[in-house]
Amino acid sequence: MSTNNVALDYESKVQQEAVQHKELVEWVKKTAELTQPDAIYWCDGSTEEYDYMCDLLVQGGTFKKLNEEKRPNSYLAFSDPSDVARVEDKTFICSKRKSDAGPTNNWMDPDEMKATLQPLMKGSMKGRTMYVIPFSMGPVGSPIAHIGVELTDSPYVVVNMKIMTRMGKHVLDQLGTDGDYIKCLHTVGAPLEPGQEDVSWPCNPDTKYIVHYPEERRIESYGSGYGGNALLGKKCFALRIASTMARDEGWLAEHMLILGVESPEGEKTYVAAAFPSACGKTNFAMMIPPKELDGWKITTVGDDIAWIKKGPDGRLYAINPEAGYFGVAPGTNYDTNPNAMESIRKDAIFTNVALTPDGDVWWEGMSKEAPEGIIDWHGNVYDPSSGKPAAHPNARFTSPAALCPSIDEKWEDPAGVPISAFIFGGRRSTTVPLVYQAPNWNFGVYLAATMGSEMTAAAFGNVGAVRRDPFAMLPFMGYHMADYFNHWLQFGRELSNPPRIFGVNWFRKDENGKFVWPGFGENMRVLKWIVQRVKGEISAVESPLGWVPSYSDMDMTGLDFSEEEFYKIMSIDREAWKEEVLSHEELFSKLYDKLPKEFLYMRELMKSALWRSPETWGQQPERV
Ligand code: GTP
Ligand code: SPV
Ligand code: MN
Repeated sequence: MSTNNVALDYESKVQQEAVQHKELVEWVKKTAELTQPDAIYWCDGSTEEYDYMCDLLVQGGTFKKLNEEKRPNSYLAFSDPSDVARVEDKTFICSKRKSDAGPTNNWMDPDEMKATLQPLMKGSMKGRTMYVIPFSMGPVGSPIAHIGVELTDSPYVVVNMKIMTRMGKHVLDQLGTDGDYIKCLHTVGAPLEPGQEDVSWPCNPDTKYIVHYPEERRIESYGSGYGGNALLGKKCFALRIASTMARDEGWLAEHMLILGVESPEGEKTYVAAAFPSACGKTNFAMMIPPKELDGWKITTVGDDIAWIKKGPDGRLYAINPEAGYFGVAPGTNYDTNPNAMESIRKDAIFTNVALTPDGDVWWEGMSKEAPEGIIDWHGNVYDPSSGKPAAHPNARFTSPAALCPSIDEKWEDPAGVPISAFIFGGRRSTTVPLVYQAPNWNFGVYLAATMGSEMTAAAFGNVGAVRRDPFAMLPFMGYHMADYFNHWLQFGRELSNPPRIFGVNWFRKDENGKFVWPGFGENMRVLKWIVQRVKGEISAVESPLGWVPSYSDMDMTGLDFSEEEFYKIMSIDREAWKEEVLSHEELFSKLYDKLPKEFLYMRELMKSALWRSPETWGQQPERV
């Protein structure tokens, strides 16, 4: 078989014959024998290669080049309508023992799964090129970083991986002759017969499998070309496989943003926050504080994933393993997230947003009204009276982190940044208050473990339904959820001064279904209280759920948000919490055999606190 022979006017700076890592070359050859691509191409990660690959995608109809004046060096792809989000029911953790995957994961015996995948993989890359992508999650050479190699038949994946990871020849150099790497195999599952014309978004509309073998530290993905299903460095490696590595090696791999808060005095505090998919991580990580909170500044380290290890001083240090953002487009605009809008002004890839007549992009929420004559994500002229959105609700942009105006000066520091607080927040229209602080680490772990959230379009499923999403990791856990809770408890026991833990909820609604809290930049007011709590600079009131701010503790300067409104979204209703605690019990009974026994006592303590408090606990304005 030929290598690097795709109808090229670009020649890769990596030739298979020259690759020093013999085991890797063997794996590539073996995989090619199975999947039977027409050619093998080793990615060098250069800009020329990126440009070449984008041209290839334009020629093949996957990409439309956007208007060079309005959106320089940027492209738009429409996916197949069957391939728009993560497929959680087709995602498997194939550990040797079922009990290691736990009841919250789909499990299949690894041998059985391999027997299932083998015939699908056989010949799956026919008529296509197999790209070899060496990539590093985290700054190359950082003690917190790890390397993967993805084999894929999708050039769309190649260009996205170029933005989302550190990718190319320098990673191969780092691997040397025998370095460790995670094997990531991906195919769109759409082989081409000789002469068969390709479609603009090849995938397998009927069969998809996203498979993890945690003991072998190996990933196999079949049938999808979209997001976390296909960019295997992200959820598959950096969360599902990395969480098992973290369990074994004593660190944390989390679905968390990382941000820096600078006070007017110039003091920097870093926090990490876990919100479920499409629940505001990107927005929070890039937030611009309201002008009334003069002197407070937010800097961005990461918007989706954090790898956290103990430093020599006993503190926790976090890196963002990614190098780009794969962010939710709908709802993003110059009011909600100006930094994201600036990040995507050029050099971006858009997927499933709408195309304007002048060759730019549009999505719901970018402006009030859709511009005339736009093309929707199905590729049709958009009819606003259809009641359907022009951009898919899970439409995304891919953009290099370095372009973000709020990027933190230490975002590529191999040592990471020290974390002072963890924040957990679901999307809850009722029940959960705006902010509360866990009394200690154990209660914080309980808070995170029992977090609930209304489902979003980031995954196929029942959008809007509340489900327990422990640590925002339900779709991303590589092992037994209760073992993970124990890992967190044990992790805290070994820290002399563990980060403080907080719960937040930006999404509480009023009787008319409107969000009560203005959110976005105004979330700085909540974050300010959190940072001041961490530093021991501000007081709090005890509630049945933990410590909460009184109205006077919150900096509401310049915000039209009354004391009454504040206590409304801080209220804790016993009837609602009865339901809430019952669903904690549901989760616990599912996980009972491995559940930390502390959780049962904490639940009882919480119950008695709720039952001893007024039916609707809320601080009265006059109490403060
Ligand atoms: P993933 O990339 O899927 O992991 O998600 P994410 O958590 O980064 O999601 P993102 O920040 O892109 O969330 C997008 C959605 O959250 C949009 O619907 C936003 O309008 C909404 N959102 C973000 N912040 C706020 C907020 O403070 N208040 C309200 N009401 N909505 C918010
Ligand atoms: C998420 O769903 O949490 C994402 C997007 O960050 S994806 O990478 O597609 O999983
Ligand atoms: Mn995510």
